[in-house]
Amino acid sequence: MEEVIRIKGQKLLEGTIHISGSKNLCVALIPASILARDVVVIHNIPPISDVYSLVEILEQLGICVEYHQDTLIIDSSNVKYHDLDMPAMERLRASYYFYSVLLGMYHKVTASGIGGCRLGERPIDLHIKAFEQLGTKFQKQENKYIFDGENLHAGHIIFDKISVGATINAILLAIQIKGKTIIENAATEPEITELCKFLSKMGATIEGLGTDCIVIKGGKTLHGTTFYNIPDRIEVGTYALIGAATAKNLIIKNVIKEHIQALLDLFDILEVDYSIKENELQVRKSKIKKGIIVLTAPYPGFPTDLQQPLTSFLAVNEGTSVIIESIYTNRFAHIKELNEMGANINVTNMNIIIHGVKELRGLVVNGKDLRGAASLVIAGLIAKGETVVRGLEYINRGYENMIKKLRKVHANIELCIEDFGDN
Ligand code: UD1
Repeated sequence: MEEVIRIKGQKLLEGTIHISGSKNLCVALIPASILARDVVVIHNIPPISDVYSLVEILEQLGICVEYHQDTLIIDSSNVKYHDLDMPAMERLRASYYFYSVLLGMYHKVTASGIGGCRLGERPIDLHIKAFEQLGTKFQKQENKYIFDGENLHAGHIIFDKISVGATINAILLAIQIKGKTIIENAATEPEITELCKFLSKMGATIEGLGTDCIVIKGGKTLHGTTFYNIPDRIEVGTYALIGAATAKNLIIKNVIKEHIQALLDLFDILEVDYSIKENELQVRKSKIKKGIIVLTAPYPGFPTDLQQPLTSFLAVNEGTSVIIESIYTNRFAHIKELNEMGANINVTNMNIIIHGVKELRGLVVNGKDLRGAASLVIAGLIAKGETVVRGLEYINRGYENMIKKLRKVHANIELCIEDFGDN
């Protein structure tokens, strides 16, 4: 038996959706909070499974955690070292932020694997190189990562590729090391800037926020603080695309315009009917008359996390569009499912070529990763007839109450239990 999402498509949506707190920021804030060895309060934390996995790890490290409504209270005054070999470490990729946090605190870390969606090669060489630049000795023994931080020192890191995770891990280690560390070719995602603001509120000295060169004067004693998580820009983008495909009028609240500028630029080119004021985006179903070429790229470029939702949207557009997926070598699992629903999409050399079709038809489809599963929900909302989306566990990793939020705006969508006889 399996929980699935059942959708009867082609319903015109109308109403208001409130965006939850950012997944990609809170998965960094939670491990980082330990550095205070004190009480940290973080508001606007979404109840998604990645958060529960991180809380499980905190508890194994002897940390007291309370989670009421959307507020996390983390008291790490009694934190103690534990090898990072808990099963929860393997449920998400961002669990590797504990590497840098514990390495700086205890000068050693032994870790087993990390999790995360399968999107092609996802090495952690950049993280390891950054740690090595700061004096870490690293070895891999069978399936274990062993980090020795007995001789940590400040340093100069120049990333040869932009990585969100490696930038965050470098920051989290550098702020614990006395002296000045410079991080060049850093990622500039808003989640990194916000993490730096959080660390600064805890007492860290970080310069260059929002730029690709971050300068840290490390080794300060940190203390507890209170912080408010930002809205999830990928959730905004997902619902904005749903609105553009299916809504009479969808009002999306808690939006930071600057964070979704790449999507709004694309809407401008496609002449999507939308308006934005203060923190509210309104989107209406739009007849798109042309194709587009989109390149996924590090922030402020078009986010790879919206590539899959965008593919579903473009699948029923007039014209031919191309999305060049420049970040992940295999973020294409949704394409086969979309084609089975009637789409006409090819992938060559990381280029997704989408020939718009008139209509998708409902089917049983398999979500195989977080944003891929979300893109199939979008396809189900667009399609004629009934769609059943499998892979709910992926959606629950990153979207708070997706079904409830969509039902509130009159989507014909529900949670069901089905037996496919294959699990
Ligand atoms: C973060 C986001 C994820 C988003 C991605 C790209 C979080 C929790 N997740 O993931 O939603 O899709 O940014 O915007 O914030 N790479 C290496 N070596 C490394 C690290 C990365 O080659 O050591 C490569 C990756 O395989 C990928 C590219 O660099 O091709 C970018 O990855 P990265 O920015 O590190 O993504 P994540 O931090 O994992």
